[in-house]
Amino acid sequence: MPSFIGRIAALRLAASAAATSSSRVVIAKQLGGRVSCLPQSSLRAGFVRAYATPARPKKTDAGSSTQAAGRPRKTAAAAPKAAAKKATTTTTTKKASAAKKATKPKKKAASPAKPKKKELTEVQKEKKEKAKIREEKAELKQKALFTEPKNLPSNPWMLFVTRKSAGVSSSKDTIGDRMATLSEEFKALSNADKEELQRTVEENKLQNAAAYKAWVESHTPEQIAEAQNARNALRRKFDYPKANGSHKIRDDRQPKAPRSAWVYFFRARHGSGEFTSLSPTETLKEVAQEWKNLSTVDRQPFNDLAAADLTRYKKEVESTLHREIASPR
Ligand SMILES: *[C@@H]1O[C@H](CO)[C@@H](O)[C@H](O)[C@H]1NC(C)=O
Ligand SMILES: *[C@@H]1O[C@H](CO)[C@@H](O)[C@H](O)[C@H]1NC(C)=O
Repeated sequence: MPSFIGRIAALRLAASAAATSSSRVVIAKQLGGRVSCLPQSSLRAGFVRAYATPARPKKTDAGSSTQAAGRPRKTAAAAPKAAAKKATTTTTTKKASAAKKATKPKKKAASPAKPKKKELTEVQKEKKEKAKIREEKAELKQKALFTEPKNLPSNPWMLFVTRKSAGVSSSKDTIGDRMATLSEEFKALSNADKEELQRTVEENKLQNAAAYKAWVESHTPEQIAEAQNARNALRRKFDYPKANGSHKIRDDRQPKAPRSAWVYFFRARHGSGEFTSLSPTETLKEVAQEWKNLSTVDRQPFNDLAAADLTRYKKEVESTLHREIASPR
């Protein structure tokens, strides 16, 4: 994934570099003949800019003074740097500028075609990026381990419907009616039948839990951590719904996130039994105010607890996931 991001960044950099003035200077300097190695589009862009730009003021100058007689001199003045450098070869400069003038209209005529070319490459770039995003998504899906065992029905109604639906195919049009009929049947079940459903459901729950645990433990803690990261990325980047399996993987082997000093304080205060008359929201508000009021000295024990828990977390990450934590909070 980092290399993927890196490649996109490099592409963008390359694209923007083609438009920077520094590259134009380089291209202008290379116009001695070695330019053929440059990409055709950037070469043309560089050529037109390097030569057309100094020529432009000359045009406006000529326009403002209206007298065409002063043109050659003004050309020299419009490119002062070039004139200073090649002071000894003024005639060649003049010849060169004349040549530029001659080629300029051609370039201008050719330039309308240029945006079309750029548009094409933009589309291509977009296609490429889309393909890469698709690739990234596929890679994440692969890592996300969407291979959890299917759960057996874990409530009586679901079990009842599953049993009644075995081997029965109903179309979308009839499913509503069918469910209504089944609902009536379900309500009319005898107590013995209901108890049997309940017993089976309890067994199913145990089986589901065992199958899930076995599935989790058929992977290393690192694989599960990687799968969890992939699922989080799918949810974050691709709006992947939790219902599609991007929910949290329950794995007791994963290190529990370190608790903060505030969390320790809240647990201690909440556990004091002083807030039983308040709603959870009110309790949270009240304890938060207490925490705000707490002096540095009074916070110290909780800070110590948090520091110890962070150490515990670090050790667990190292021993279970065989890596160091990204950065201490
Ligand atoms: C979620 O799963 C359904 C059915 O498997 C699928 O049609 C849908 O495209 C999935 N959603 C996403 C965001 O992948
Ligand atoms: C917090 O301190 C303010 C005064 O600084 C006091 O009015 C308030 O009652 C205190 N709140 C709690 C929850 O201790």
